[in-house]
Amino acid sequence: MNALNRDFKKLVKLYKNTFKEKVNEDYHRLKFHLMPPVGWLNDPNGLCEFKGKYYIFYQYSPFDSNGGTKFWGLYTTKDFINWKDEGAKIFSDQPYDCHGAYSGSTLVHNDKMYIFYTGNVKNIGNHDYINSGREHNTILIVSEDGENFENKTLLMRNSDYPDNLTCHVRDPKVFIENDKFYMVQGARDKQNVGQILLFESHDLKNWKFINTIKSKEIFGYMWECPDLIKLENKNILIMSPQGIEPDDIKYNNIYQTGYYFIEGDYKTSNYKLSDFNEIDRGFDFYASQTFVDSKKRTILIGWMGLPDIQDLYTNPTTEYHWQHALTIPRELKINNNKLIQIPICELESLRKTKKDFKVEKTLVDEAFDTFEINIDFEKSNDFKLIIKKGAILEYSSEEKLFSLSFNEIGFGRTKRSCKLERIENLRAFVDTSSIEIFLNNGEEVFTSRFYPDKNVREINLTGENLKVEIYEMGSFNIKGD
Ligand code: FRU
Repeated sequence: MNALNRDFKKLVKLYKNTFKEKVNEDYHRLKFHLMPPVGWLNDPNGLCEFKGKYYIFYQYSPFDSNGGTKFWGLYTTKDFINWKDEGAKIFSDQPYDCHGAYSGSTLVHNDKMYIFYTGNVKNIGNHDYINSGREHNTILIVSEDGENFENKTLLMRNSDYPDNLTCHVRDPKVFIENDKFYMVQGARDKQNVGQILLFESHDLKNWKFINTIKSKEIFGYMWECPDLIKLENKNILIMSPQGIEPDDIKYNNIYQTGYYFIEGDYKTSNYKLSDFNEIDRGFDFYASQTFVDSKKRTILIGWMGLPDIQDLYTNPTTEYHWQHALTIPRELKINNNKLIQIPICELESLRKTKKDFKVEKTLVDEAFDTFEINIDFEKSNDFKLIIKKGAILEYSSEEKLFSLSFNEIGFGRTKRSCKLERIENLRAFVDTSSIEIFLNNGEEVFTSRFYPDKNVREINLTGENLKVEIYEMGSFNIKGD
């Protein structure tokens, strides 16, 4: 066994046990979301279903709630409700990944897990770490049992990527099509153009670069976490671009996550990308990943957080030695040429007490600590919903605008909006410190953290002819590693 691997494993457990009490003192620990047991979490990684279990890996820095060297943490489940915290599973324990086991994906093939990720290395010296000083190595782990992840092979180094790229090439996502394997990686070229690299392989070990996918007009300097999926016979490229300027109510976060429909053949130069659409309009969503499960559902999970936000808004959970979470899983579908997101149906089994209301003008209710609220609008009229005295959801039929805003319990989060021709229904999941809002059956989604006081439960709704259901939500059952 690798000595670093052995010692990291021990240290992660020690850290978790040392800070367990402090972490659990935090009222804002979430009830039905996956969080780091201690420290920092970012991107969902390696999502897959393997031998009847779902594997949800995530970028994990256990030793620092503001981020540090990245490992892969793991939760497993059979039903998305009962979970096992498997602790940290993939460590930065080799010369080719010593500054972080960065993001990647899993392909289940011939009863084995093939895990691809980026080994981040920063060389000592006077470097900008964009054009020099950084290695982004593509690494393969083959796991036969879904428990041991030490069998690593270095597949590609910087010199194996096409010329004209900076050192930023990362986040391999692998898929199979017509018995051939494909890999997309996010990249930044020397002219600071964000793009995707497409590779092809017959054996998952030898990879050949076959194409670059980029937009006609430059759209940001770096594209992270690409995901090329096929849904209802359409090819869709989901990715997280960096370097996009805000455009009125669009692109208001520091970085975005969104998608293009691809027309034509993306394996050649004969393709066209549609306009870019943001997948989520809230303050805390980034670096999502999808996988297809045995029920043939395409399920998306995002990081409920963003990098580099500390000067814009914050998460007070760092006082309790943890930060960030994953979103609830959402099933992807297409409706009216738009990607829509529907919370997976398993979450319905967390529903407890139910309240029903018919609202003519106003409703004030002491809802629940954690809940799901569903509102049906008879007419697309104005409404305003204030949750826990600080999250404000409103629709203006005149401006055809939906907005989510916060007072001080947003910890710096201000307002985000989207155009909405009409409002038909709203579904929101409110956890102790997060809200995920699905408008018009998932046509638009807003994901955000916010930090209400422990004893504040009030919801205050104004609007006409609204049918409202509120379900108290139970908690995930998470067993330790
Ligand atoms: C996205 C990202 C990825 C990278 C990982 C490192 O949030 O920057 O591009 O692999 O995080 O943690």
